[in-house]
Amino acid sequence: MAQHHKILTQNLNFDDQSQLAAYERRGGYKAIRKALGMSPDAVTAEVKASGLRGRGGAGFPTGMKWGFVPKNTGKPVYLLNNADESEPGTFKDRVLMERDPHLCIEGTMIGAWALGSNWAAFYIRGEYGYPALQIQRAVDELYAKGYLGKNIFGSGYNLDIVVHRGAGAYICGEETGLIESLEGNKGQPRIKPPFPAVAGLYGCPTIVNNTETLAAVPWIIENGAAAYAAIGTEKSPGTKLFSASGHLNKPGVYEVDLGYPLLEFIEKECGGVWNGRKLKAVIPGGSSVQVLRADDLEGVKLDYESIKAAGSMLGSGGFIVMDDTVDMLDAVINLQHFYTHESCGQCTPCREGARWVESIFRRIERRRGAPSDLLLMRDVTSQIAGHTICPFGDALVTPALSFIDKFPEEFQERIDAAIVSDDLPEESASSH
Ligand SMILES: Cc1cc2nc3c(=O)[nH]c(=O)nc-3n(C[C@H](O)[C@H](O)[C@H](O)COP(=O)(O)O)c2cc1C
Ligand code: SF4
Repeated sequence: MAQHHKILTQNLNFDDQSQLAAYERRGGYKAIRKALGMSPDAVTAEVKASGLRGRGGAGFPTGMKWGFVPKNTGKPVYLLNNADESEPGTFKDRVLMERDPHLCIEGTMIGAWALGSNWAAFYIRGEYGYPALQIQRAVDELYAKGYLGKNIFGSGYNLDIVVHRGAGAYICGEETGLIESLEGNKGQPRIKPPFPAVAGLYGCPTIVNNTETLAAVPWIIENGAAAYAAIGTEKSPGTKLFSASGHLNKPGVYEVDLGYPLLEFIEKECGGVWNGRKLKAVIPGGSSVQVLRADDLEGVKLDYESIKAAGSMLGSGGFIVMDDTVDMLDAVINLQHFYTHESCGQCTPCREGARWVESIFRRIERRRGAPSDLLLMRDVTSQIAGHTICPFGDALVTPALSFIDKFPEEFQERIDAAIVSDDLPEESASSH
């Protein structure tokens, strides 16, 4: 098995790792001490030079994003650790928070220092009771020890961290939906610009970073940008967590160097496709990215560029594997139902369109599909993508279109086999 660097998971298997004393014994809170001895700009420069890219989905360079915060506005700056993790197939941040909460917090502390922020928050998915408890316990330990609050580590720097739990809405993972929710409003995304770096929480400069992104920062500060950049590929440096689920012998969360061959990941890390079955498809980055057929995967590597060249995205690393027994119509209905349920309802194309997309698939499934349904699907989706306030609209049409594009025969077969008899009662498309 290939040897991968363990930047995020090196201490995950120690049962006492979530306790402050054990975390420190294994070298924890050294990086924040080092960072406090550097200027905030030097910390940002180090993260920039490392090439670290955001692990929340878009892969935006972290140091560059930190650099967007305007200086000397007279307003407070906020750092929000996005632990809403609701993208179907993604469960890596959960493992980090449960097993190594201090690592998540130390990364947040360093980020806050770099940004000149005295107040940071974790926004944790509502269903994540135990991870939230672990983070809260760790924060409490830090306050008790004087590592949070006033004058931390004798540096003169003040930092408070608040733990906030969501109420189970996927859209609160979108950064402006998260900010609205944190302000106590409905979790409905804002129109951008202005971007949160300029006007975010309470109209103040705000950076939202994914939990895994921030958890990589202590290692970068301790070992240096060059050491991080030397791992992975030139454009996708470092390691990445993949939440591997579906028809695998060994599903789980794996940390691998970016650039690792995708098929080797399935065989060597995840123990291969279960029950000796054949691989049919993979969704490599969570439900909002394009599905890939097994025969598209030869030579594909687990990094941003290679997966993009193959026609999909690395996204959040929610790696969903399907064996040859999977009915793709069934699978896509499952995904589309999620989007129908989770639309925040603000934009008509998304609120109504999500429902229509699901309904068209459902009527094909009921053998009531019309020959024009696949064209109708393209028409409906073309009026959603690019016509909404937030990227949820684009996300919801991605499974619909990619499943049809990659497995057209499965949809066409069902349409061809549709019952055209008038004996069946007609159901309107909006009955679901
Ligand atoms: C519908 C939707 C849901 C999202 N959910 C999450 C999430 O659960 N966690 C996350 O970190 N980012 C999520 N994002 C991305 C965030 O908006 C934001 O880009 C990210 O937190 C930035 O962090 P990063 O730069 O460290 O990747 C979501 C985006 C969209 C459009
Ligand atoms: S695209 Fe959908 S989820 Fe995003 S703001 Fe519009 S209605 Fe809400």
